Amino acid sequence: MNTMRQKMVAGNWKQNGDQALVKTMQDGLSKLAFNGVEVVVCPPFPYLGAFEAKGFKLGAQNLSLHDSGAHTGEVSGSMLKEVGCQYVIVGHSERRADNSEDNDVVAQKVQQALAAGLTPVLCFGESEQVRDSGQLFDFIQSQLEPVIALIGVARLAETVLAYEPIWAIGTGRTATPEQAQEVHQFVRSYIAEKDASVAANLTILYGGSVKADNAELLFAQPDIDGGLIGGASLKLDDFVAICQAAE
Ligand code: PGA
Repeated sequence: MNTMRQKMVAGNWKQNGDQALVKTMQDGLSKLAFNGVEVVVCPPFPYLGAFEAKGFKLGAQNLSLHDSGAHTGEVSGSMLKEVGCQYVIVGHSERRADNSEDNDVVAQKVQQALAAGLTPVLCFGESEQVRDSGQLFDFIQSQLEPVIALIGVARLAETVLAYEPIWAIGTGRTATPEQAQEVHQFVRSYIAEKDASVAANLTILYGGSVKADNAELLFAQPDIDGGLIGGASLKLDDFVAICQAAE
């Protein structure tokens, strides 16, 4: 199912949170309405079933490469779907680094997510070293190309993209709105060369030290449709302020 281009704010809790935070977020977010913004909460696996996604959507942070079977510790896309997930983050730089997920694994996970009826939130982004080397756009293209080669450009319409420069994640060093827009615009035009309508309708998020006080300027950029939020998604007030900035 094609996703529409939309304003979106997704909170990536990473390996953080507890039952008290589930309750705070559940109670806080279900009371609010964010006009025209798709709000997504991505807690660790054990908490997914504890959420009753009302007024917001649920997402997971990872999924298995496999449908089922002898893969101890893995969780399939269909399991995530069954406990109420609509989204799943794929290819986060922390998983690429900690779990050796390369571009081919990431592409296969995108395919698994789609097969399960989930919307993959496909993360990509460069290290500081790549940026300094002047290879930024080649690198970004090399991260996206295997996904497009595997699923085809038409099915990219069923995904959400998230540009997350590694040097901006958890560092407080947010990309400037101009730096982020430059990459978002590049990605949209690179995809437009393959399919203009897919590119125009694609939701592309920015992630990396998005906070309540810098969200509005980032989200005001023409090719930035919202954010993937780490640290600031763990505090209800901060997360709500970022969702409001997307309105
Ligand atoms: P951050 O993380 O907001 O804490 O920088 C973003 C992310 O990794 O998704």
